[in-house]
Amino acid sequence: MRAANSLRKVQPWPRWIFPRTLFKMVLDACLFHGMHYQFQYRVSCNTNIWSPMENLTARIPAFRPKLPSVEKLIPYLREIDKNRWYSNRGMLVQALEQRIATLLGTGCRVVVTASGWAALKAAIFASAGPATPARPFAMMPSYTFAATAAAAETCGYKPYFLDVDEADWMISPQMLFDHPALSRTGVVIPVAAYGRSVAQKDWRQFRQATAVPVVIDAAAAFEAIVEDPFGLTGEVPVALSFQATKSLSTGEGGAVIWNDADGLMAVTRTINFGFLGTRESQSPSFNGKMSEFHAAVGHASLDAWEDTVVAWRTTCAAYSGCADTKGFADQLILYPTIASCYALFRANSEAEAASVTQALAGRGIEHRYWYGDGLHTHKHFAAAERDPLPQTVRVAQRLVGLPTAIDLSHETMKRIVAAICEGCRHQKAKEHI
Ligand SMILES: Cc1ncc(COP(=O)(O)O)c(C=O)c1O
Repeated sequence: MRAANSLRKVQPWPRWIFPRTLFKMVLDACLFHGMHYQFQYRVSCNTNIWSPMENLTARIPAFRPKLPSVEKLIPYLREIDKNRWYSNRGMLVQALEQRIATLLGTGCRVVVTASGWAALKAAIFASAGPATPARPFAMMPSYTFAATAAAAETCGYKPYFLDVDEADWMISPQMLFDHPALSRTGVVIPVAAYGRSVAQKDWRQFRQATAVPVVIDAAAAFEAIVEDPFGLTGEVPVALSFQATKSLSTGEGGAVIWNDADGLMAVTRTINFGFLGTRESQSPSFNGKMSEFHAAVGHASLDAWEDTVVAWRTTCAAYSGCADTKGFADQLILYPTIASCYALFRANSEAEAASVTQALAGRGIEHRYWYGDGLHTHKHFAAAERDPLPQTVRVAQRLVGLPTAIDLSHETMKRIVAAICEGCRHQKAKEHI
């Protein structure tokens, strides 16, 4: 806490090094996630394409992140200068963990990590350990981002893909109690699809009843957790992502939230080569530490958290209102069903989804199937064992990721909604031929 307080007293900073370093960090993160074009645009022109005066034919990106400005980072960067402590659980990292724990107010502690993937991997190692010949499987939904399976794989597990419930796009404990592969499963990884809430209670009971460890991949669920910290955190470890597309971001980063002090100690050891207090490696491990520079971005993001929440709520309400005027508000899925950083169109059929995505593309509007057709369709995971996945297939084909941004303009929303209407109209016309 003292570190967090002292961070308030810092002064201007040396301009010649950190802005570029930080800009590059964020740029690298975005390049990695295929968003480079948005930054190219930002670098190459000073006008704001999202203003009411925007060019009505300008390309609309699937997502346009907004992290704290350089000015907001300066106090924290000065602190790093002063401390000369750049990684390995520095002051900013420790203060960030404390601030998040205080914000949640449940008594659960927090360990921040280099990415959401690192948080997941460390939580699996700490709660379940590596895979064993008797329990080689990590059960998870096929309908998720590749990081879920990749994290389990690097702990030695074979992904086992489960079908999701068509209503909430997630797996539930009820479908697993009698599952034939459960006796060969070392860990179950429910995923908070698009930042939805995953309640601790059911999974805690599942763990108690089956003795199979559970790690919740809550990558995009920070907002949901802030709103219901007692319901969504506790005895089952929760892994979060703070990547640039998420509502709270450190550029790249993540966290494990857990009320098990020994478990969190094991997470800390796992992300630091198995070292804890000595230089002897004591457990399976990797380098999953968050740097002080990323923690600086996290502090500046937290400083703006309340404003961020208000801005996202305003944008989501306007987006929903815009869809309502065209009569399809029920097909536009936004906060509070999912995290604010996503906007989804739920098509009534695969054909409607195809027609809408075609109309979007025709008007220069990007869309994204964030979880693709499910991991079982990815080359690398195609041979993994799995249940029949009919609901996954239906959900994956019909949930279309629409463009969004914290400052999405009304004009942009209108363009997106108009394109969706056009797509739906075309589809209906086809059905009547
Ligand atoms: C469901 C899910 N799990 C894990 C991750 C990995 O997070 P990161 O990109 O921070 O490693 C993501 C990233 O978007 C995700 O969507």
